[in-house]
Amino acid sequence: MKLLFAVSLLIVFMIVAIRYIYRTRILHRGLRESESRYRAVIQQSAEAIFLICLQSKHVIEANDTFMQLTGYGPDDLPGLTLYDFVDHARKDVDDKIRGILSGGKRFLGERRYLTKDGRRVLMEVNVHVITSGGVDVMCVVARDVTARRKADGELMRYQDELRALASRFALAEEGERRRIAVGLHDTTLQTAAAVQIQLARLKARLPAGDEQAILAEARALVDNIIRETRTLVFELSPPALYESGLVAAIAWLAERFHETTGETCHVRLPDEELGLGREIKVVLYQALCELLANARKHAPGETVDVALRKINGRVSLTVTDSGPGFDPESLGPYSTHEGGLGLFNIRERLDMMGGCIRFRCKKGGGTIIELEVPARLEPASGVADRAEA
Ligand SMILES: Nc1ncnc2c1ncn2[C@@H]1O[C@H](COP(=O)(O)OP(=O)(O)O)[C@@H](O)[C@H]1O
Ligand SMILES: [Mg+2]
Repeated sequence: MKLLFAVSLLIVFMIVAIRYIYRTRILHRGLRESESRYRAVIQQSAEAIFLICLQSKHVIEANDTFMQLTGYGPDDLPGLTLYDFVDHARKDVDDKIRGILSGGKRFLGERRYLTKDGRRVLMEVNVHVITSGGVDVMCVVARDVTARRKADGELMRYQDELRALASRFALAEEGERRRIAVGLHDTTLQTAAAVQIQLARLKARLPAGDEQAILAEARALVDNIIRETRTLVFELSPPALYESGLVAAIAWLAERFHETTGETCHVRLPDEELGLGREIKVVLYQALCELLANARKHAPGETVDVALRKINGRVSLTVTDSGPGFDPESLGPYSTHEGGLGLFNIRERLDMMGGCIRFRCKKGGGTIIELEVPARLEPASGVADRAEA
């Protein structure tokens, strides 16, 4: 009986042991499989992934991408430290690690690496500190962004060149307008004035009758030519802007606004001209033309206020209307706003000169637009500056 009990106990024990061994084997196989899966993911990653011992700064483990990127092979790994391939001073590396440890044990940013063959690459690194086997280890995931940064730099350079080109183009256009305006003034207008004088002389000599009526018609036509050509000259390029200055040109523009729209344009102007360079005058004048055109188009029937002042070496031009207003957010630099390019052009040109455009408007609450530029341009702005009026 006792023997039977012992045998059954042994059988139960063996069954339990076999099941335990079987389960442990399955568990180990699962662990091995999951580890090899995990390793495959790390190895095949397009990013360099490596572990650094925080005490010695040695590389504990690194994937293939790390080796391809840095040029260090498996044989180099045992002696390789962070200082060997991070292209920053040793102190900088230590400071950065101290900063990571004291600031949330994480870091995301850019670092320069030096490859085994001496090439410098810019890396975007994502670092976090983990504890493995009781030791603090830095886990780094790094991506080569050298080409991307270079492309970004080139894009910005192209954008700057494009802006400079647009600015030069606008100034060239203004120069051409001025040339045509001066030409019209010096030739067509002078000739028409001379014709008018001759017709006046003829009038004195002709007897009263049909001829006088024909002559009066001819003189009225010449008067028209003179008036229309003068308006054209002013619209092309107001002589006031060059002969007097921005203050005079704004006063003239405000009058024109009233004549053509019937609406009042109040101006608050300095008592004297501001002594601005040609480029600043032209840019502010053209911007004001656009802002007044906008007021006429988007805030019809509203009075407009224009204020020009110079404070602390900067010129400020503010245009205010009490129309419907708009949301300036809809004018983001790359927005798909359906309007024209008027405000965009103003912003680009002011930006080129170290100036800016500010909106203080709310939908339904009127529009205040302020333009600000330095009263004198830096030679580095790419836009030459010559003081005039
Ligand atoms: N004074 C204003 N009042 C109301 N909305 C304005 C005013 N000025 C500009 N806007 C808004 O800003 C947009 C962009 O202006 P702009 O770049 O000059 O283009 P455009 O005048 O050709 O539409 C306009 O379409 C309009 O919606
Ligand atoms: Mg416009």
